[in-house]
Amino acid sequence: MLAYRHAFHAGNHADVLKHLVLMLVLQHMNGKDKPYRMVDTHAGAGGYSLEGRYAQKKGEFEQGIGRLWNRDDLPAELAEYVGLVRRFNPQGTLEQYPGSPAIEHMLLRPGDQQRLFELHPTDHRILESYLGAARGVQVQQADGFDALKGQLPPSTRRAVVLIDPSYEGHGDYSRVVATLRDALQRFAEGVYLVWAPQVQKVEAVQLPRRLEALAPKGWLHARLTVQRPDAQGFGLAGSSMFVINPPYTLHGQLAALLPFLVEVLGQYDAAAYLLDQRAA
Ligand SMILES: C[S@@+](CC[C@H](N)C(=O)[O-])C[C@H]1O[C@@H](n2cnc3c(N)ncnc32)[C@H](O)[C@@H]1O
Repeated sequence: MLAYRHAFHAGNHADVLKHLVLMLVLQHMNGKDKPYRMVDTHAGAGGYSLEGRYAQKKGEFEQGIGRLWNRDDLPAELAEYVGLVRRFNPQGTLEQYPGSPAIEHMLLRPGDQQRLFELHPTDHRILESYLGAARGVQVQQADGFDALKGQLPPSTRRAVVLIDPSYEGHGDYSRVVATLRDALQRFAEGVYLVWAPQVQKVEAVQLPRRLEALAPKGWLHARLTVQRPDAQGFGLAGSSMFVINPPYTLHGQLAALLPFLVEVLGQYDAAAYLLDQRAA
């Protein structure tokens, strides 16, 4: 049963962190001419209306991209990320938010490959109609955890993989670990990005340590905490991006950007970031 719909959450603080890190990684990949394969295992719909009833229900984007949209003091990389969101809103007002497939598509070059997997029939249909006919792109309604096996090693010998489950289904935490273990055996050189929620669940707390153990060649963990969990300990306090085989430039970039994001996206006094890495 697929109850999760990303349309409720599009453009929230977690999307800002995720898509910023994704952009920085792809920009680094673009520093070399050689093409690469981008695999997005949980792609979503590709783009979301912020004026529709889903996004308006809780207005999560207002505490995310909405807080960055009109600022004129953004550090360069954040201005570039907001610039991508602006390209998705050519009319100049914030009405749409680009999902990860759109962010990727804006950054990939003509020779690069994009492989998108999405299980939900509605989101798959929207994604297929948006990017299905684009050059170099393949969209499949398939289980992204399983499908990753068929994508590695890539014919390009360079790859970036984004694993962005909802963690609402049973077993997503364990499947992330098992999928990455298998993927690293197939292609140890890939850059693997995993998004994870900051919630009070044992599996969520343990996930970074489990991922570190898989990544002998190096990892980076960036976490952005923006709000207090509710009285029952529920709610998304923040989120993490865990990167296996990160570009060497990523730590320095995030060290400069995360304090700014805490300042701008923080919703309480204890808003904070964590940035940790082990280099190869
Ligand atoms: C967090 S959302 C993805 C958001 C998207 N990556 C972005 O940043 O715009 C997770 C998506 O995974 C889909 N999904 C859930 N289980 C899946 C699976 N096993 N394989 C592929 N997609 C799945 C959900 O329908 C949902 O659209």
